[in-house]
Amino acid sequence: MARSITWSALGCLLLSSRALSLEQGAASAACQYLEGTFATETVLPTDEQYQNLSEVNWVQTAWASPTCIIQPTTAEELSELVKHLVAQDVHFAVRSGGHSPAPLGANINDGVLVDMSKFNAVEYDASRNVAVVGSGLRWGEVYRQLDQYNVTVVGGRILDVGVGGLALGSGLSYLTDLYGLVCDNVVNFEVVLADGSIVNANAQSNPDLWWALKGGANNFAGIVTRFTLNAYPIVNVWGGVKVYSLESLPALFDAMLAYQTVAQKDPYANLMLQAFPLNSTIGVIVNMVYMKPVESPSVFAPFYNISTLADTTKLQTLTDFLASQSAAELPRLDWFATSFKPDADLYGTLKTILTSAPELDQIKALTAGSIAIGWQPISASAIEAGHARGGNALGLESSNQTWLVLDVGWWDSEDDATARNATSSIINKIEDAAKGADKYVDYIFMNDASVEQPVIEHYGAENVDKLKAAQKRYDPNLVFQNLVPGGFKIPSA
Ligand SMILES: Cc1cc2nc3c(=O)[nH]c(=O)nc-3n(C[C@H](O)[C@H](O)[C@H](O)COP(=O)(O)OP(=O)(O)OC[C@H]3O[C@@H](n4cnc5c(N)ncnc54)[C@H](O)[C@@H]3O)c2cc1C
Ligand SMILES: *[C@@H]1O[C@H](CO)[C@@H](O)[C@H](O)[C@H]1NC(C)=O
Ligand SMILES: *[C@@H]1O[C@H](CO)[C@@H](O)[C@H](O)[C@H]1NC(C)=O
Ligand SMILES: *[C@@H]1O[C@H](CO)[C@@H](O)[C@H](O)[C@H]1NC(C)=O
Ligand SMILES: *[C@@H]1O[C@H](CO)[C@@H](O)[C@H](O)[C@H]1NC(C)=O
Ligand SMILES: *[C@@H]1O[C@H](CO)[C@@H](O)[C@H](O)[C@H]1NC(C)=O
Ligand SMILES: *[C@@H]1O[C@H](CO)[C@@H](O)[C@H](O)[C@H]1NC(C)=O
Repeated sequence: MARSITWSALGCLLLSSRALSLEQGAASAACQYLEGTFATETVLPTDEQYQNLSEVNWVQTAWASPTCIIQPTTAEELSELVKHLVAQDVHFAVRSGGHSPAPLGANINDGVLVDMSKFNAVEYDASRNVAVVGSGLRWGEVYRQLDQYNVTVVGGRILDVGVGGLALGSGLSYLTDLYGLVCDNVVNFEVVLADGSIVNANAQSNPDLWWALKGGANNFAGIVTRFTLNAYPIVNVWGGVKVYSLESLPALFDAMLAYQTVAQKDPYANLMLQAFPLNSTIGVIVNMVYMKPVESPSVFAPFYNISTLADTTKLQTLTDFLASQSAAELPRLDWFATSFKPDADLYGTLKTILTSAPELDQIKALTAGSIAIGWQPISASAIEAGHARGGNALGLESSNQTWLVLDVGWWDSEDDATARNATSSIINKIEDAAKGADKYVDYIFMNDASVEQPVIEHYGAENVDKLKAAQKRYDPNLVFQNLVPGGFKIPSA
């Protein structure tokens, strides 16, 4: 018995190292070929820029050692590149802003990294009131360029994050209660398909692909080169950051509930609460913004009588407000998402779990172990705005809800499993509590989800079938499912 286990384990080892060397061989051959023939430079490990380019990804958990890195500059060039990689059976990864913390989501070992950062143009078409933006841009550049026309788009809340990944993962914006998710505001995707063809997907052309790309991520059709986004004339807002002590957390949960359950929630208001239960130096941060130049609007009244440690709210431009938001810098990080409806009893239970779960001590015991609780209120108006703009693949129910995210940070790669396990265990407890209270929302927000969470499964069976039908039509050989190993995948069985 012991012997047969040994033998089969050895067989497995041989098989996987053989498969690996085949992958390595195909990738090296492709990189050599491309270096000789391709218009853009092929960056090899021996090149000076290589290390910098392989570590663009926001956190170390997403760093890797690609066989080579290529930064195509046009859709035609990208088309040639994809055709070559597919013909030679080479594994590849696609990276826009590199802000996904998922290991090998937007980076690769033994394969080619396609870096989209040269797709960086912003054009504003005043006659149609749309902006055409390259997928390799960061949101900050998009907003700054659109400022000259006094318009903005529904986009990311932190300027450094990439356009491509955020929009394809649906995208939560401070404008979402007003106009829907980022993907709901994409009126056209320009896409390079697996066979190298360059197509447009919008309400008239390839509408099934347009629908599927609104939430479908990178896994079933192609690489998006440009997004055409609705533009909106919003410039001056009131907003900023209010900082509270951890002791105010119970009062802040009450304020949050009140804010989420008023008779008519004003869609011009948006906020995100972040609490750091293991770090009283930071405490609780609430980013709040009102999309009109109105000081201290009444929609945030439930928060105003809780005393702050610092408060930067003021009248300013939306871009200045966004520029004042920053993200932590942590070497290793993951996050886990879940959703539920606002409810006094449930919020009471969550308060206890999120401040006293024993898993918090496991995280605290890690080198630089930290956790952030992110509370994101979503109004039914956001989901309805998505339906009004043609619908998406997400399967969201039209209700008021909270999208919760737990960010976990740590230092050493040896602690990867402990950090992730502890956090996923807290998420499970929250889901159990939400289900017990009959307030669970069967939705996992992709952009805040760990790659191990079954995001697309939760879009619902009907939507998964529609995604598979689109996959069959646009990527019949399942190139993006098989040759692009990273990111969220359509469940295969
Ligand atoms: C500091 C910070 C703030 C954030 N704020 C927000 C926020 O306000 N709202 C929100 O919704 N999310 C937010 N996120 C989450 C963010 O949207 C995701 O991490 C997203 O994946 C980042 O996009 P990216 O282009 O930088 O990612 P990447 O890591 O480059 O890509 C992520 C995934 O998308 C795929 N992909 C990227 N570009 C393309 C393309 N052009 N074609 C096909 N596939 C592609 C990649 O292969 C990868 O699987 C934030 C993340 C961070 C780190
Ligand atoms: C890495 O690239 C970035 C972006 O191009 C640049 O700002 C930075 O200086 C580079 N760093 C090194 C060490 O080359
Ligand atoms: C933008 O707004 C400013 C201030 O109101 C105004 O001076 C400027 O002309 C506007 N620009 C455009 C392109 O509308
Ligand atoms: C969402 O909450 C608002 C109050 O903010 C309420 O008027 C509305 O009926 C709720 N919508 C749904 C679909 O539950
Ligand atoms: C708390 O956060 C501050 C500011 O980021 C940091 O300097 C400090 O080390 C953190 N403390 C703990 C216990 O993690
Ligand atoms: C803030 O005011 C609300 C009513 O306006 C009250 O219910 C709540 O207890 C107050 N909170 C604090 C911390 O004073
Ligand atoms: C993490 O969880 C998995 C699955 O439950 C388990 O197999 C593994 O031993 C755990 N690892 C750690 C370090 O806790």
